Amino acid sequence: MPLVTSKELLLKAQAEGYAVGAFNANNMECVKAVIEAAEEEQAPVILQVSQGAIKYAGLAMATAMVKAAAESAAVPVVLHLDHGTSYEQNVQCLVAGFTSLMYDGSANPLEKNIEISAKIAEIGHLVGVPVECELGKIPKVEDYFTPEEIFDLSTNKSVPEAVEVVRQKAGASVESLMADPAQAKRFVEGTGADSLAAATGSIHGMWDDIWPLRIDRIEEIKKATDLPIVLHGSSGVIRTRKDAEERGIVLKDNEGTLEDAVKAGIAKVNVATAISMTFLAGAKKAFEERPGERDLRKILSPGLQNAKALVKSYIQLLGSSGKAELTGKASAKSEIKHAE
Ligand code: G3H
Ligand code: ZN
Repeated sequence: MPLVTSKELLLKAQAEGYAVGAFNANNMECVKAVIEAAEEEQAPVILQVSQGAIKYAGLAMATAMVKAAAESAAVPVVLHLDHGTSYEQNVQCLVAGFTSLMYDGSANPLEKNIEISAKIAEIGHLVGVPVECELGKIPKVEDYFTPEEIFDLSTNKSVPEAVEVVRQKAGASVESLMADPAQAKRFVEGTGADSLAAATGSIHGMWDDIWPLRIDRIEEIKKATDLPIVLHGSSGVIRTRKDAEERGIVLKDNEGTLEDAVKAGIAKVNVATAISMTFLAGAKKAFEERPGERDLRKILSPGLQNAKALVKSYIQLLGSSGKAELTGKASAKSEIKHAE
């Protein structure tokens, strides 16, 4: 079916209390994995093109992959720009046919962030394309740990020990970067954003789902804005309270899991690293089992299957299974005014 906009999916998710999964279109196999998972779950889905994917595949190739996959998909698919770096890049993506934009102005002072976000929202809205804007900053795990330290934490430490090390080294910084509820209303009004990537305690690129979110902050932002809130850095977030208990992770009173976050108002959940890791694990196992294999598809297929299984499990956790039906408003296709 034709691409739809994120606005249509996220407003419905917000109204019905579930979240839509947003997964990265890093290669053809990942795109296929996401679409097949979404079709089997009858779930709407967002395929997003990251800065890394633009460098790796090129904007034209990444765009074409998602468009081709969406065209024959039996579920609604959004083509979204992830962490857009500039006004110019957002214009390029709009022209390329993206049905959802993002500007990550987290490196700028607040006023500059609002100014550029607003310009992008203005042009997006002219042609019916919604824009996600970032308030606060969602840091990367590499901001705190070297690759060697990450390897050590992931292989030589128990989960509770690793969580404690992250709390000690990154906790205060992550907290200081969180979105400020006192700025949220002004940010949303000043930018015209359609969804809000609010920093609420997550960290990009974690190696395991062991890190808690600040549910109190999600609730405060939600109260201040009432926009669909987007969770970045979801690979590292503990999925459920049961998982936390089983893995010996002790949550503080204001902390919670992905499941809690959806209940608190998160409507879009971005997962990238975990998909990449399980893809690699599948391909690595296949190559170890068949070291003489000469057909790359036979090595990549188990990676695709792993990625698909993980995407399905996120879709189920987020509550978007069975939510593919878009009802009510006119279809997003007719709302988008750029040429197809
Ligand atoms: O924008 C992309 C996401 O925030 C993905 O983060 O790699 O930690 O899942 P992640
Ligand atoms: Zn992100």
